Parts: sequence; C-alpha cells; structure tokens
Amino acid sequence: MSPAPVRTKPNIMITGTPGTGKSTLCKELAERTGFQWLEVSKLATDWDCVSGFDEEYQSNILNEDKLLDTMEPIMASGGKIVDYHGCEFFPERWFDIVFVTRTDNTILYDRLHERGYTGTKLTENVECEIFQTLLEEAKSSYDEEIVHEIPSNTLADKESNLDRIESWIESWTENNVR
Ligand SMILES: Nc1ncnc2c1ncn2[C@@H]1O[C@H](COP(=O)(O)OP(=O)(O)OP(=O)(O)O)[C@@H](O)[C@H]1O
Ligand SMILES: [Mg+2]
Repeated sequence: MSPAPVRTKPNIMITGTPGTGKSTLCKELAERTGFQWLEVSKLATDWDCVSGFDEEYQSNILNEDKLLDTMEPIMASGGKIVDYHGCEFFPERWFDIVFVTRTDNTILYDRLHERGYTGTKLTENVECEIFQTLLEEAKSSYDEEIVHEIPSNTLADKESNLDRIESWIESWTENNVR
C-alpha cells in the first residue's frame, strides 16, 4: 500500500440515503470550518460528468472516471467535505473520516414525500435506509474504524453533529499538523 498523501487539513466524506440531511449538514459545516463543500450530484453537472439519466431511479448517471479525474487534484490539498449518496467509487485514500447520516423511517418518508417523491422513488429510498445500504457500503469501502453513523432526525441532532465533526477536525489537526 502506498503511504497516505500529506494533507494539512483532513478530507471528510458525508454519505447517506437521499433526504437524510447530508447537504443541510455540509452547508453549515463548510460555513463553520472554512472547508470546501463538494456537493457531487450538483457538481457532476457543472463538470460535465453526467453520462445519462436513469428513468427508473429518476436520477443522473455519473461518468465516474471523468468525475474522479476532475476531483483528484481538488482533493489533494485537503479541507474538502464530499457530499454524495454513494461512496464506494471514490478512492479510499481520499478520506480521513466517513460519516453516514441516519434518519428514522417515518421521518424520512415524510421528508421525501414533502419533496414530491412518490412511487418507486419514495419506497426505494426509504428501503435503502431501512436496509442501511449506505452504512454497509461505507463499511465495505473504507476502514470500519473511520466510518461513523450520525443521527439526522432533528435540528438538535444537526447541532451535535456539527460540534462533533468540528472537534474531530481539531484533534486531527493536533495529531497530524506540526
Ligand atoms: N437534522 C435535521 N433535522 C430536521 N430536518 C432536517 C435535518 N437535516 C435535513 N433536514 C431536512 O430534510 C430535508 C432533506 O435534507 P437534505 O436536502 O439536506 O438531504 P440530503 O441528504 O442532502 O438529500 P439528497 O441526497 O437528495 O441530496 C430538507 O428539507 C431538510 O431541511
Ligand atoms: Mg443533498
């Protein structure tokens, strides 16, 4: 295994089922920390890294190779918060920690319904959370020790997640930057 790249700031992955609050958390985390929030589903369009549209899931199909090539130099300097409802195709070496946002089924159902999701898209996303698909994906793609579930049901959860991640960044910096 090649040695981990030298970064003066850590890179953070925030993943989880659609609607579990990744972007809400990342936006505030970026404001608090000065880290750069990379909202992959939106940036993929800006970077012309969308290769088609999945009718069944009503979502863009990513050109993963092009996306990874585009992100590689951005990730190198550290201080990035990557927000995406998937994590297995990113290189393991990019991330110092992975958080998986978790939301109770009924709360998630209401959030997605409010967003206008119906039918297969609604049930499949709720099932994705019930089967903890993203948590399993994160654990099988990264060292389990760096994968952490964070509750994302209430605004109080969001505040404690912000505090937790901010103090993790402080201790990472103490341990890695001299
Ligand atoms: N901790 C929270 N407590 C209460 N409501 C929340 C919380 N986090 C997010 N929400 C609400 O849930 C909805 C979905 O949040 P958000 O868009 O951040 O999810 P997401 O994980 O980024 O979804 P997607 O994968 O589709 O981008 C929003 O209406 C947001 O206001
Ligand atoms: Mg989002």
